[in-house]
Amino acid sequence: MRLDKYLADMGVGTRSDIKKAIRKSRVCVNGSVVRDAAYVLDEPETAQVTFDGKPVAYEVFAYYMLNKPAGVLSAAEDRQEATVVDLIRQGEESTGISVRTDLFPVGRLDKDTEGLLLITNDGQLSHRLLAPKHHIDKVYYAKIAGVITDRDVQRFAAGIRYDETLTAMPADMKILKSHETEGVSEVEITIREGKFHQIRKMVAALGGGREVLYLKRISMGSVTLDPALAPGEYRRLREDELAALKAF
Ligand code: URA
Repeated sequence: MRLDKYLADMGVGTRSDIKKAIRKSRVCVNGSVVRDAAYVLDEPETAQVTFDGKPVAYEVFAYYMLNKPAGVLSAAEDRQEATVVDLIRQGEESTGISVRTDLFPVGRLDKDTEGLLLITNDGQLSHRLLAPKHHIDKVYYAKIAGVITDRDVQRFAAGIRYDETLTAMPADMKILKSHETEGVSEVEITIREGKFHQIRKMVAALGGGREVLYLKRISMGSVTLDPALAPGEYRRLREDELAALKAF
């Protein structure tokens, strides 16, 4: 791998800035200054590369779990609005770590939805997790305006029609709280597909003016949101979490 690509992949700067920095002797490989951007690293994973004296380790893939806050877009970048990848970038840069440029979210949560979102640069894993045929379980906590009854649970279990043309696959709904007097219910819903606004539409399809007031994803397949992460916080996936996802 070329030295300038190695540094660009790891988010040290743009390719042209990196070329300039290399020419100015700011980059060392295995203890020696290298002034050629086209220098080839035979073993990028084990090379000791420094930029301005700071080590830059090469990772082929990176995997993060983010507790997405409401109000942030599930996208890699956007001209106007903050994205989930911006949160990772800001967080890492605030601790002096440069961030690779090829991260993206695995699927989407609505702008107002909170909770578990995986962020990676591993396109193959993402593709597998999102493939409709895999029916990966996604568990959500929802607060709903209105009373949810056992009959509603049955309608979700049977596969509710939520659009002129769309019928949901059977979904599990567990009532956590449902009080006539409060007029608000709390439920846990497990779906195995991920169409646009799916849960919001499924709840609205129950009728009676019921609607989602708050939605948070708790888990996706084998990975559960770390309760230590406040909205907007993230961490790397642990080895065991990654292994379980890959085994899916
Ligand atoms: N269902 C929704 O309606 N919104 C989400 O963000 C996720 C699932």
